[in-house]
Amino acid sequence: MHQFLILSFLLFGTSLASPLSGNDNEELKQLKEEMNEIKKQVDYVTHAFLTVHRARSFSTGSERLYTTNKQEGNFEKVSATCIQAGGHIPSPKKEGENKALGEVVKRHNKPAFIAKHLAEGYTNWAAGEPNNTDGTKDCAEIDNEGKWHAASCGQDHLVVCEFSFIP
Ligand SMILES: *[C@@H]1O[C@H](CO)[C@@H](O)[C@H](O)[C@H]1NC(C)=O
Repeated sequence: MHQFLILSFLLFGTSLASPLSGNDNEELKQLKEEMNEIKKQVDYVTHAFLTVHRARSFSTGSERLYTTNKQEGNFEKVSATCIQAGGHIPSPKKEGENKALGEVVKRHNKPAFIAKHLAEGYTNWAAGEPNNTDGTKDCAEIDNEGKWHAASCGQDHLVVCEFSFIP
């Protein structure tokens, strides 16, 4: 019994003293090398992505991308189309973003929906807007000049979606 205890203690002690066999050490080394390689590639892709993003933002003055599939639809359809594409209904939060969105609208000469419940902060309502005195204009649209108006949700508008690459 005594001998058995001593033997198991020795064995246990040995496994503690050298938790990794030569093979394990080799695997760990390989894993580290692979991790370093992956890290390098992630850094490279991140850098490439950010460069394209900065160049695009530089030319449009907007961090967010506004783009159309040239189709038209009511608010519900535009919203569903944008979400399916991985974007959402435009919700410009700065002048630069509003301008970028306005340019898409101007280019196609058709108004586009903007988010209904815009957060406090940046707004660009036309004079007298939002005007929903007749109760039929629960949505909002942006015109060729980048001005916002109350709009009927059932009316067809240009499908323009907002894509944010960086939260
Ligand atoms: C608001 O819209 C109604 C028509 O829906 C119009 O008669 C009225 O003049 C508008 N008010 C303003 C302040 O533009």
